[in-house]
Amino acid sequence: MKQQLEQLRAAALRAIEQAGAMEELENVRVKFMGKKGELTAVLKQMGKLSPEERPVMGQLANEARAAMEQAIENARARLTAAALEAKLEAETLDVTVPGRAVKLGHKHPMYLALDEIKDIFVGMGFTVLDGPEIELAELNFDRLNAGEGHPSRDWSDTFYFKEDSSVMLRSQTSPMQVRAMDTMPLPIRMIAPGRVYRKDEVDATHSPMFHQVEGMVIDKNVTMADLKGTLNAVVEQLYGAGTKTRFRPHHFPFTEPSCELDVQCHKCGGKGCPTCKGEGWIELLGAGMIHPRVLEMAGIDPEEWSGWAFGFGLERTAMRQFKIADLRLIFENDVRFLEQF
Ligand code: DAH
Repeated sequence: MKQQLEQLRAAALRAIEQAGAMEELENVRVKFMGKKGELTAVLKQMGKLSPEERPVMGQLANEARAAMEQAIENARARLTAAALEAKLEAETLDVTVPGRAVKLGHKHPMYLALDEIKDIFVGMGFTVLDGPEIELAELNFDRLNAGEGHPSRDWSDTFYFKEDSSVMLRSQTSPMQVRAMDTMPLPIRMIAPGRVYRKDEVDATHSPMFHQVEGMVIDKNVTMADLKGTLNAVVEQLYGAGTKTRFRPHHFPFTEPSCELDVQCHKCGGKGCPTCKGEGWIELLGAGMIHPRVLEMAGIDPEEWSGWAFGFGLERTAMRQFKIADLRLIFENDVRFLEQF
């Protein structure tokens, strides 16, 4: 048995010494020292020895085990160091190789225009709201005083989800007026930019999806003078001090009175040129005093509160600002176009 132990010890130490990887080392450990290992098998035979032999063999066995454990420990350290060495070798990098320039993108021109508009309104105390593009017809139409039979509700203009025309892709950001009235405490000053959808064919000035910016103020003693004063201040910040505007009467179901705001053509100073199509004026937006019925439907007393609202197309604003001739360029995401801004 003594000879058996010595052979075992020598074989194990050799195997440990030769192990070239952690996995191999572990296999060796299990082979010799595991529960079903060779050393364990030898120890199991101790019972057959005489009482005199037993302590001698026991000591020999313990020594063999200690030697093996120590050898495994050493081998582990050796293999760890070798692995680190190999890793460092593999990851050597040449700091003199020229780097690859990282291409940074930038904001889309339409969002550049929106940022400027947001800054102006936030500077005047307006909150920026976000709302759903899938909207109830009730909010897009009824609550905005465009009841059954109103031409804008037609199936040929609007994307409805259901036969009963109750759910739709919003055709304007104006339902955000209703959502603001329903959820915000008075007084309210808000703008709500976002996507809107209409059944329009794609051409240089139309798209079935485009963006609008809605705005609304409700407070006590708000008049048409506030509407004009605020929008004139916005126009001066956008197009320069002293820019002339004109307010033309118009009709929207949710405002009374309603108007459209034109800005004098910056190109020709009002004489008429291709930019303003000979008009001298460029149409900017629709606006008006919030219809008392719209306030009433939101549970707001029109005797106590009044307000004004406006809405405009964001693409057209960006196209004017950056002299973009075709609406399709805004949505095509051609980098050759986008890189120019
Ligand atoms: N929602 C209107 C449209 O899509 C634009 C508009 C006009 C919004 C007048 C308003 C407003 O808030 O007061 O044509």
